[in-house]
Amino acid sequence: MKILVTGGTGYIGSHVVVDLLNEGHEVVIVDNLINSKVTVLDKITEITGKTPIFYYENLTNFEALQKIFDEHQFDSVIHFAGLKSVSESVERPLLYYCENITGTINLLKCMQDKGVEKIIFSSSATVYGDSDIKERLETMPTGQNIANPYGRTKYMIEEILKDVCISDPNFSAVALRYFNPVGNHSSGLIGEEPNGIPNNLMPYIMKVASGELQELSIYGNDYDTPDGTCRRDFVHVSDLAKGHLAALKALETPGFKAYNLGTGTPTSVLEMVAAFEKISGKPLPHRFVARRPGDLAEIWANPSLAKKELGWQSELTIEDALKDTLTFLSNHQ
Ligand code: UD1
Repeated sequence: MKILVTGGTGYIGSHVVVDLLNEGHEVVIVDNLINSKVTVLDKITEITGKTPIFYYENLTNFEALQKIFDEHQFDSVIHFAGLKSVSESVERPLLYYCENITGTINLLKCMQDKGVEKIIFSSSATVYGDSDIKERLETMPTGQNIANPYGRTKYMIEEILKDVCISDPNFSAVALRYFNPVGNHSSGLIGEEPNGIPNNLMPYIMKVASGELQELSIYGNDYDTPDGTCRRDFVHVSDLAKGHLAALKALETPGFKAYNLGTGTPTSVLEMVAAFEKISGKPLPHRFVARRPGDLAEIWANPSLAKKELGWQSELTIEDALKDTLTFLSNHQ
């Protein structure tokens, strides 16, 4: 299949591109490199022996996107491109609505113009918002009590996809709701490399481990959880990537579908720090600070629908993710 991957040089996108190329698909990437490096393309080639076609472009540039669709007839699209910093989205909501929503609408318009009717969307567990039930199921309501504009863009895009599916009975859209992706390809060649000071836990831990940052601030140790720190469902990015290949098959049936991609098991921030210290054999300097506004105490996936309908389940452990993270770190120092 010929597949357009938006955001294909990013953290999750690059891992999916590797799997697509290894499976024999033809891949075209469009990415504006806002949160990734062009050198990722060389790493992808090093891992797979194949080079994807690359366009340095922003999805908000409709004419440029049209040109790409004129040059290729795609079978389907996997849509990762978008801004993803929770804190930045609170400070600059219009930027987030413009990049994430307008970018997606442009993409869908080009798809409709060329009769491309299959899309996988990179969604997030954040669409569930806050709830008393910590284990999230796809049947639970979405869109309520979402704490930030970034999360709302994910929810809104899911709603847009539902409407497009209603308007076109041949259109199929799969939203993959990621929990907390961690780790990287076992080669240590590609991984998460956010620009600037990271917001997310694992990239921050990596910068402390490499000595670039002094210590990890753990946001709150007074939550109603077993050790007082938040609990999340950390899923290995290589498992996550496999979920996309499984979802390609689900695109054969028209309509909108959403699947949780998580392990089903929560791990606390403190447990993550302890596991990192054990695997690296070194202490990870950390201290407790005030809670971060908008953080949920606990959230994890019920991944049974993905298992039943996609035949997907996570296989790698947190220890695997941390070992791969250390390989990545040693390759990048
Ligand atoms: C957030 C987003 C989620 C998005 C994910 C990856 C929300 C509510 N969550 O998830 O949609 O998919 O980022 O981009 O919109 N922590 C620390 N110190 C740090 C960093 C994090 O203690 O320096 C803690 C946080 O308080 C949290 C846990 O680690 O309890 C995980 O945080 P993070 O990696 O930012 O992910 P989420 O907030 O779960």
